[in-house]
Amino acid sequence: MKKIVIAIDGSSACGKSSTAKIIASELNYKYIDSGAMYRAVTLFFDQNHIKLTNPKEISKALENINIAFKVDEESSLCDTYLNGLNVEKDIRKMYISEKVSEVSAISEVRKAMVDQQRKLGKSKGIVMDGRDIGTVVFPEAELKIFMTAEFYVRAERRQKELLGKGELVDLETVMNNLSKRDQIDSSREDSPLIQADDAIEFDTTNLTMEEQVDEILQLITSKIIEENSLETQKL
Ligand code: CDP
Repeated sequence: MKKIVIAIDGSSACGKSSTAKIIASELNYKYIDSGAMYRAVTLFFDQNHIKLTNPKEISKALENINIAFKVDEESSLCDTYLNGLNVEKDIRKMYISEKVSEVSAISEVRKAMVDQQRKLGKSKGIVMDGRDIGTVVFPEAELKIFMTAEFYVRAERRQKELLGKGELVDLETVMNNLSKRDQIDSSREDSPLIQADDAIEFDTTNLTMEEQVDEILQLITSKIIEENSLETQKL
C-alpha cells in the first residue's frame, strides 16, 4: 500500500493535534506536532533571554536547539524533547502560549523548523499538523485538511485541556490568547495561516472526537485507494 503525507492545518484548539495523533496511530504512520517545535523554540528563547529583535542572536540560538520526539513507554504518548530534556509539560503552559506566535513569526525560526519538518516527512507515511503544512512544508501532500471550529467552542476545549494538565485558566484569558494568536498567525508575512487551495475544509464545531476521527479516516481511505489505483495505472 502506498504511504501518503497528510497535512492538517488550522487555528488553535480546533482539534488538530488530538485527531492527528489518533489517525497516525490507526494508520501506523508517524505523527509530528509542528506546533510543539515552535513551542520548544519559544521555551529555549525564554530560558536563554534571547532578544527577538536581534537576528544574529536568534540564528546563533537556533544552532543550539535540538528538538526530538520520543514515545513515553508508560503513557504511549509522544513527548517533545529539547536538547535531550523532556519539555512536554512546560511547552503546553499558558506563558508559552502567550509568547509562541511572536517567535513563530520570525523568518529565521520558520526556516530552521521547516527544514527539520521536511526531513521528518521524507519517507512519507506521516501526519503533520500546524499552520503552514499544506501551504509551505508539504505543498505536494496527497491529503490536506483545513480544520475549523467556532471560536467559543475552541476556547472551551482549550480551557478544559489546560485544566486536565493541572492549569486553571479563566475563559477570558484563554479567549484573549486564542484571538491574539489567530491574529498574529494569520497576518504574519512569512507563511501565514491560510487554507491551501486544494485543502478540504473540515468544521469540528458539532463533532465529537470519535466522529471527527471517523470522518477523517474515511477521507484518508478514499485518498489512499485513489493514489494506489493511480500507481497501478502507471505500471
Ligand atoms: O496547540 P495549539 O493549537 O494552541 O497551537 P500549536 O499547534 O501548539 O502551535 C503553537 C503556535 O505555533 C501557533 O499559534 C503558531 O504561532 C505556531 N505554529 C506555526 O507558526 N506554524 C506551525 N506549523 C505550527 C505552529
